[in-house]
Amino acid sequence: MWSKNVSFDDNQLHLSGISASKLAKDFGTPSFFIDEDDFRTRALSWQSALASEFGPQAGGVFYAAKAFICTDVARWIKEIGIGIDVCTGGELAAALAGGIDPSKIEVHGNNKSLAEIDRAVEVGVKTVVIDSLHEIERVAAMARKHSKVQAVFLRLTPGVQAHTHESISTAHEDVKFGFSIASGAAWDAVQVVLRHSELELRGVHCHVGSQIFGTDSFEMASERLINFLAKFRDAFGRELPELDLGGGYGIAYLPNEETVQPSEVIPALHAAVKKHCAAKNLSIPVISIEPGRAIVGPTTFTLYEVGTTKDVTLEDGNIRRYISVDGGMSENIRPSLYDAQYFAILASRQSQSEKVSSRIVGKHCETGDIVIRDIDLQSDIAPGDLLATPATGAYGRSMASNYNHVPRPPVIAVKDGKARVIVRRENEADLLALDVKE
Ligand code: LLP
Repeated sequence: MWSKNVSFDDNQLHLSGISASKLAKDFGTPSFFIDEDDFRTRALSWQSALASEFGPQAGGVFYAAKAFICTDVARWIKEIGIGIDVCTGGELAAALAGGIDPSKIEVHGNNKSLAEIDRAVEVGVKTVVIDSLHEIERVAAMARKHSKVQAVFLRLTPGVQAHTHESISTAHEDVKFGFSIASGAAWDAVQVVLRHSELELRGVHCHVGSQIFGTDSFEMASERLINFLAKFRDAFGRELPELDLGGGYGIAYLPNEETVQPSEVIPALHAAVKKHCAAKNLSIPVISIEPGRAIVGPTTFTLYEVGTTKDVTLEDGNIRRYISVDGGMSENIRPSLYDAQYFAILASRQSQSEKVSSRIVGKHCETGDIVIRDIDLQSDIAPGDLLATPATGAYGRSMASNYNHVPRPPVIAVKDGKARVIVRRENEADLLALDVKE
């Protein structure tokens, strides 16, 4: 749940030896603190698990930028040597700003604009993952424009229901993403791609969903995609070389949960791929994956300052303590959107006082602005105390909004006992900067 360099000494939370009080004093609250070493270690552990399991058939780890991206993180990705998955022009811009080689960029999205495709093809991205028939024509047109042959994957919908929240399950039939294998849409898309000499069909892709534990949905998806690759081989007498199995590996948000480890899931994927390829007498394709949350999620915590507390008497006579912090749904929308659960601790001091039933809420003007619905916290928590929420690295800052005209928090990278801002805090001038005054 906590990143590698978080420790609890002198009654306080520390990140790489820097106390929560010092972090709050130097950078303000709310703020995201990202443990740079931990990020690098996690990214590398996916990379090395893939390499050691699949050997020469290891494609790449393409970090899913949507989980969190900024120029500095893109630079880390470049230094680590993994690839990146981007799904908008903005994410592509950040990847390029960080110096990532376009040959390590995969481009996703179910409605890429012509301008986004144009830029991607122009800079020479590794693969464009095609999501619709319209897009086949658009990618081909942009390849023609730049006199290139663009490598593409088809995103397929294998009809697998991942065990996760409905909004982040992406590979059952009734979704906007990809081409359905079962309906024949995927097979039709293959014929259309093959009619375009500006496109090189390199393989197929699927992403079953996000925050997934266990390996059965990945195994089932790999079976259906491999069967599809075998059908291609039978029809065209050659094999497509690549298979991308997407991301989605779950992480721990609560003390009783366990983050999925690459050393557990990659061997299971390998076994499934080997088995299904053998069944169809197919060579093992080059395998890529796209973890986002599993790399960045556990590396970061959010630090809040308590502003007010209030005891509310419930209908059953029990008391609930409301603890208001200086952020909320603008920097963590996940509890409101997915009923996501988080954990928090008192980070700036120790308290032996008894724990009381509490709810951590934000500063926004609505009842659903809840950071943690139910948590037992020390009864003496008071204004000025700091609370830390672990595992907020993925889909926190990247989904932040300016609701209620609240400036979005900064992201501070901490490494070897030094902290530095990698995304600065927004201010009121930023908020007003887009308003046209005349
Ligand atoms: N690849 C593709 C094509 C994806 O669509 C996604 C996530 C990923 C990779 C990375 O998935 P991850 O390893 O991070 O689970 N906002 C939601 C998550 C949406 C994920 C969308 N796609 C949340 O906060 O839970």
